[in-house]
Amino acid sequence: MENKTIKGFSKLSKEAKIEWLTKEYLEGDDASIELLKSYWHNDTKTQKLHDEFIENTLTNFYLPFGVAPNFMINDKVYCIPMAIEESSVVAAAAKSASFWLNRGGFKAQVISTIKVGHVHFAWYGEYERLLDFFTRVKDKFFQNTENLTANMRARGGGILDIQLVNKCELEPNYYQLMAKFETCDSMGANFINSLLEEFSKTLSTEIENDTILTDEEKKIQVIMCILSNYTPECLVRSEVSCKVEELTEGTDMSPELFIEKFVQAIHVATIEPYRATTHNKGIFNGIDSVVLATGNDFRAVEACGHTYAAKDGQYKSLTHVSVENGIFRLMMITATAGLAQNFGAIRSLVTTGIQKGHMKMHLLNILNQLEATDSEKKQIVELFKTKTVTYKGVVDEFCRIRGIENKDISIGK
Ligand code: MEV
Repeated sequence: MENKTIKGFSKLSKEAKIEWLTKEYLEGDDASIELLKSYWHNDTKTQKLHDEFIENTLTNFYLPFGVAPNFMINDKVYCIPMAIEESSVVAAAAKSASFWLNRGGFKAQVISTIKVGHVHFAWYGEYERLLDFFTRVKDKFFQNTENLTANMRARGGGILDIQLVNKCELEPNYYQLMAKFETCDSMGANFINSLLEEFSKTLSTEIENDTILTDEEKKIQVIMCILSNYTPECLVRSEVSCKVEELTEGTDMSPELFIEKFVQAIHVATIEPYRATTHNKGIFNGIDSVVLATGNDFRAVEACGHTYAAKDGQYKSLTHVSVENGIFRLMMITATAGLAQNFGAIRSLVTTGIQKGHMKMHLLNILNQLEATDSEKKQIVELFKTKTVTYKGVVDEFCRIRGIENKDISIGK
């Protein structure tokens, strides 16, 4: 077997890393080197910032960055940034935003902002003895971390509470210190993890020095200290509502049929995990693209959202709908961009179907790959207004208009 391993890769310069990679994996292809370098930022200072963000950096990875205007949230209009590789997502968000702009907009409310972290540990005595010990020393956890929490306390945050949690029903001898934190407008990952590590030191020292516990009871094994990305007490509720008859503007459907199908669609996503997964994926199209565009950790948001969706023991829709006294109300726990995305998706799914809009964007992507001119694009878009978009169909029309043979097209799919 060919040996493509390397020692000390991280110590190589960026150029040397690229050289090694292309030599070992791309047959020394110069074009690949040029391609990688073409994504470097022109400004060396900005590029350095990117280089130093992660390890073994070679180049940058671009994502389209767009905006969805006309988002009225709590009576204020926003233009929301979105970074995503999938066509139609920004268009759907913008369309939903305009739709709700004339119907009172989105109402969003921060319900709570509590973050959570744990010291996971094993202890081998009677729970009541541990609880008694914990109650005696609880204040020490706050006192011993005063220097670490000073800044956050000045901003109005800090440690909210620390509890001892008995998890022995899940695993013998398994306990947690479960701490709740207020981290104001930050995710607070470093803050929380540093505090948890400090709590574990306090726990070990206090147990060691305790005068009431027996030697046998002083045996403790700290397993790990880490924040939890599941934050069911960190919630934002977003909702839209309007009269049922205002819902079908721009569609051929009666409001009654629309509502019936819309409610059924949400119900299916509540009872059927296969559908719930796709339903929530559509919601995260909106959320992730805002999280990405604002340079935040989309994995944390996704992980939390999916666990929240399964909190009752079955994975379910994150959105909920009700129709009472002729008022349609769609709401969700999480963010407005996700709600807008979900409304747009369900509205398409129960009316025209989702492919119509998708294929329009897909057509433009194919035409861009073919390097079609503006006038060729115009003619082909017109042609496909009434025809199903297929890759071959588009290439055929393109070749016909340009007067070339299909075999002369070098890109493929
Ligand atoms: C596609 O990225 C997202 C949708 O499948 C979401 C949904 O089905 O609700 C359209």
